[in-house]
Amino acid sequence: KSTTPITTSKKIVVGTEASFRPFEWRNEQGDIIGFDIELAKEIGAQIGADVEIQNIPFDGLIAALNNKNIDMVSSAMTITEKRKESVDFSKPYFEATQAIVLKKGSSFKSLSDLKGKNVGIQNGTTGQDVVETLMGNRDPHIKRFESVLDALNTLRIDGLDAVVADKPVVQNYLLSNPESQLVLLDDTSFVKEEYGFAFRKGDTELQTQVNEALDKLEKNGKIKELATKYLGE
Ligand code: ARG
Repeated sequence: KSTTPITTSKKIVVGTEASFRPFEWRNEQGDIIGFDIELAKEIGAQIGADVEIQNIPFDGLIAALNNKNIDMVSSAMTITEKRKESVDFSKPYFEATQAIVLKKGSSFKSLSDLKGKNVGIQNGTTGQDVVETLMGNRDPHIKRFESVLDALNTLRIDGLDAVVADKPVVQNYLLSNPESQLVLLDDTSFVKEEYGFAFRKGDTELQTQVNEALDKLEKNGKIKELATKYLGE
């Protein structure tokens, strides 16, 4: 017979797609760091739970949640009606929008100019939704990548005409890669998106605890502090 430990510390297994700087990425030591990661750890501290981070392809995060491989998604995930059919979300913790990335000297002026052009997106993202709405989801000009970094690197070597991805991530990339010869283009048709943590449907216990922790971290200035640290905001 196995003995039951007297105390088991709580653990939250958090899934993320860790090539999305400044929200989640690997540092030179190979540790996964970023705004979402530090925020998840602060939430864990509030709840009294250890936080374990798992790197999972973005389009596999919701399945990982529903298979119980992870308990929570912290991956700059936009709260959408479509996703709400399969997961529950925390209250919003960050606001963003999409942006278009072009090669310097490119003549495209807006999203609609990209119709029929080779546009890169990260699989399973709201960037993909935007481009599919424009071009139809079967258009072979839509080039699907595992990560935004792969898409941007392909754009740099002339393999694409544009990339559509979350604006804060694009801005971070352009700042840290000044030699990239890439530029950002805004489009007024992009709507405001709100990031939330995702939970298995009906896991209201964790959802409530996380929302309460978010309230505290909002009030004590921690979220603001992390935004300044990672986004310079
Ligand atoms: N906000 C976008 C979405 O929800 C992109 C998120 C991608 N996140 C990531 N860690 N790769 O679809």
